[in-house]
Amino acid sequence: MITNFKNSDEYRKKIHNLIPGGAHTYSKGDDQFPLLSPAAISYGKGGYLFDIDDNKFLDCSMGLTSVSLGHAYEPIINRIKLELDKGVNFMRPSIIEGEMAEKFLSLVPQHDMIKFAKNGSIVTTAAVKLARAKTGRKLVAFPSDHPFYSYDDWFIAKTACNLGIPDEIIDLSVTFKSNDLKSLEELFSKYPNQIACVITEPERSVDVEIDCAKFIKEAIELTHKNEALFILDEMITGFKTDFPGSIKKFNIKPDMATWGKGIANGFSFCALTGTKDVMELGGIRNTGSEKVFLVSTTHGGETHTIAAGLATIHEFEKNKVIEKNQALGDYFVSEVNKVILAKRLQAFVSVSNSNWMPILSFKNKNGDVCNGMRTYVLQELIKKGVLCQGIFIPCFNHTKFDVDFFCEGLDFALNNYEQISEMGYENVLIGSPTKPVFRKFL
Ligand SMILES: Cc1ncc(COP(=O)(O)O)c(C=O)c1O
Repeated sequence: MITNFKNSDEYRKKIHNLIPGGAHTYSKGDDQFPLLSPAAISYGKGGYLFDIDDNKFLDCSMGLTSVSLGHAYEPIINRIKLELDKGVNFMRPSIIEGEMAEKFLSLVPQHDMIKFAKNGSIVTTAAVKLARAKTGRKLVAFPSDHPFYSYDDWFIAKTACNLGIPDEIIDLSVTFKSNDLKSLEELFSKYPNQIACVITEPERSVDVEIDCAKFIKEAIELTHKNEALFILDEMITGFKTDFPGSIKKFNIKPDMATWGKGIANGFSFCALTGTKDVMELGGIRNTGSEKVFLVSTTHGGETHTIAAGLATIHEFEKNKVIEKNQALGDYFVSEVNKVILAKRLQAFVSVSNSNWMPILSFKNKNGDVCNGMRTYVLQELIKKGVLCQGIFIPCFNHTKFDVDFFCEGLDFALNNYEQISEMGYENVLIGSPTKPVFRKFL
């Protein structure tokens, strides 16, 4: 039983005086976890994490889905070391930039050109900028019910946390309902000749019952009919739903696609790919035409993170990582369902039938999704050495043993679930339930 969080409690007290939010993404913040939990990680190895109190946890979300092979995965570390010895940032581009451009584009034959960056938000924003430059239009359209596309104003403007963003900017983003063609059609009718682009994730792991491929194909057609550009955001799906992602699985050709998270095993390497006619706008060789200031950052070509990307691609190709990760995802879903069934909790607890990112859902006695019960279960899982945010991201280092370990923890965490939901989670949850990242007030 893991109950010692002495160093974590000290850390929690101190860190908010030093770092606003206590972390560098709100998704890692204290308000996203139960109080009885690790506040900071000391190191990770494979599919496990070690916190600052020396507690060991099974890692279920793998660096917010970015670590696709495993923590400190040796072939990646060894490849990076070679690069570190040669220096990481020069006066002119490194030769590795050309090597990566050719390699990555060979995985995405739909696209001709690529631009690198250190964060996903930079590449989604770059895609939006190119679409506006290409079409001469202002509006950006994305699904209102999808969680995240960028920390930049064009996306954050439409969330509850839009303080600091002028109304003029807020009005430049418009939304439709995901996987609903009619809703997108209505948007194009409402704003004729004004929408520069549609940006969407290809599929989400909660969409298992929906024909996302059909929607995306029709949405691309509709977008092109309206002379706008289509951007596919593969930040989460990339290197998970297929290799390289849903662009291949669905056999589609968006104008641009954005990549990050799992493509460099947690290292800061992201990419925008696209067709030549749009990407070339960010180039410098069309003398006389107006210049688009596309992504331009000091660290964008940092060599060792690009090497991490190349080594990750190599591992995926050599070891059939997608097949292995998805097989483990299938095993996770079936084993978790067994636990739920054995506890007779089908009316309360469920797992989405997704083999690339299964999501658990927790309901209360009224049949409503209940964040308090969810936080309580996460608290109990932590006691059994499982650090979970309600999802499981299979990585190459995870094994069936790890899924069995998760299920043992879940079996424990679900003890008395029905009774607790009857009497109220407040009686057993230490601290508050987790809070939504996008909330107006703290
Ligand atoms: C779908 C999607 N797009 C873009 C981003 C932004 O990526 P980053 O956090 O690297 O800026 C995220 C991050 O969670 C995401 O989930």
